[in-house]
Amino acid sequence: MGWLSKVRSTIHKDKSNQESAGEANHVEITQVDELAVAVVDTEEQIQTDTTTKEDKEDKKAKKSKKTKKERKDEKESEELELDASFDQEPVDETKPLMIVSGVERSFQVGSQKLNVLKGINMTLYPKQLIMLRGRSGSGKTTLLNILGGLDQPTEGEVLFRDHPFHLWNDDQRTEVRRREIGYIFQTFALMPLLSAYENVELGLRMAGVPRHLWKHRVRHCLQLVGLEKRMHHRPFEMSGGEQQRVAIAKAIVHRPNLLLADEPTADLDSQMSAQIMSVFRSIIDTEKVTICMTTHDPTILEVADHVLEMVDGKFIKQI
Ligand SMILES: Nc1ncnc2c1ncn2[C@@H]1O[C@H](COP(=O)(O)OP(=O)(O)OP(=O)(O)O)[C@@H](O)[C@H]1O
Ligand SMILES: [Mg+2]
Repeated sequence: MGWLSKVRSTIHKDKSNQESAGEANHVEITQVDELAVAVVDTEEQIQTDTTTKEDKEDKKAKKSKKTKKERKDEKESEELELDASFDQEPVDETKPLMIVSGVERSFQVGSQKLNVLKGINMTLYPKQLIMLRGRSGSGKTTLLNILGGLDQPTEGEVLFRDHPFHLWNDDQRTEVRRREIGYIFQTFALMPLLSAYENVELGLRMAGVPRHLWKHRVRHCLQLVGLEKRMHHRPFEMSGGEQQRVAIAKAIVHRPNLLLADEPTADLDSQMSAQIMSVFRSIIDTEKVTICMTTHDPTILEVADHVLEMVDGKFIKQI
């Protein structure tokens, strides 16, 4: 079976698993939907296993008589092209990345109105690590979905880099999300039959980055999470912590400004959780990303720049 077929059958399986999980997490379903669209969009282009082809080209290039300087120049120009291809305004570190004002979210359940978020105010700046904590059911995931443009508030405003998410339709929010926001889930959400490299590559495919730029960026991101030696392993050949690091590489490969993580360490032991937190700290500096995550784990809170405690749909302390 070709790898595209593997992706398709995995998408199918993942979707039906999630849909049958009762309280289906719609963040993951949306992600799988986006992936399905990306795979179908690019179906025409993928006739061969690109990884093997590119590996061969790379070996050929190495054998050719290029000088060290020529190779360095080539790498630099590739990096410039990569920067340009992401087509993003540079982030001004002194300006807020996201401003959330008076956000409320209620759900109609039968004849009852359930008020889940009851007036959230927060401001996120570039290169921050923010943790949301609170009891189960307090509204953390609901808020994360709104920050990522997956859901909209019933009341209030959400400005992401001056984009009014609360006013925009699904298509407009999806466009910004694909280019500027990354997601990490408790359950890693990797394609089980694809290698670490192929899983990360999907992030670039979805963001529409030209394919000749993929290889360098994928390798770079796997290096950032310390997995360059595991790039050909498939998820079941890796530990939980390693799988979560692949998921991080995949989530940052398209250079998002905001990374949202819903309980990314919940399935990991304390040593692996500490590794994930150290990867988070280092990508905040190297990739200039802001991370907003939820957690129940008191041992990792000290790594955060700010901890926001949510009680019954409100923050006790706001930033
Ligand atoms: N689509 C929905 N329809 C109705 N109720 C919903 C919906 N989404 C969330 N809720 C309700 O909103 C409340 C908050 O849910 P949420 O998932 O945000 O909590 P949480 O803080 O993330 O909890 P946990 O720590 O268990 O993940 C819950 O009572 C939940 O049942
Ligand atoms: Mg939750």
